[in-house]
Amino acid sequence: MKSLVFFFILSLLVSLNHAIELDFCVADYSLPRGPEGYACKDPAKVTADDFVYTGFRGEKSITNVFGFNVTLAFSYAYPALNGLGISMARLDLAVGGVVPVHSHRTSEVIVLIKGSIIAGFIDTNDNAYYKKLEVGDVMIFPQAMLHFQVNVGKIPALAFVSLNGANPGLQLTTPSLFGGNLPDELAQKITLISPQEVKRMRKILGGSS
Ligand SMILES: *[C@@H]1O[C@H](CO)[C@@H](O)[C@H](O)[C@H]1NC(C)=O
Repeated sequence: MKSLVFFFILSLLVSLNHAIELDFCVADYSLPRGPEGYACKDPAKVTADDFVYTGFRGEKSITNVFGFNVTLAFSYAYPALNGLGISMARLDLAVGGVVPVHSHRTSEVIVLIKGSIIAGFIDTNDNAYYKKLEVGDVMIFPQAMLHFQVNVGKIPALAFVSLNGANPGLQLTTPSLFGGNLPDELAQKITLISPQEVKRMRKILGGSS
């Protein structure tokens, strides 16, 4: 019992944010990654560049079937985010484009910079909360909820999001179901979508089954 309590306290301690011990813990990509993130780079080797992400610069080309380009500033691409519980992404949507229904391990706030989009999420009671956003509007998608963005304007749309995790993940629901290695038969059974439609989705999304 005593050792159980000790183990519990220990696991509590190791899960505490490193902010108590360190100003920052820039990721050292050469070391193995654990559930809490990366090990810290030698502070003597940390430079200002580690704190700056330049991947949002310039124009983004949109080539996928949904009509979006998402640039993820997550800890695997932006080492200074490691351990800080925060990240960002840039969303570009072509005219008529969408970011299809997806989720993260975290919450997300979005701010619309250009264009006009409908943004929304669906809660665990299947209630959909969606709204047409104007430039400057901010919306939050609570932790792990399925959410989406649809360009309803006449020009390409641009938005930035922030997520309260350094590596919050991105799981697009339809590509997960039909663009991966899930067999057609299982995909059909677990969605009630017809075999023909499963085949059509797999063709569009490039699944390997
Ligand atoms: C997003 O845009 C960048 C820059 O144009 C490009 O390199 C990348 O391939 C694009 N990604 C997708 C999924 O279209």
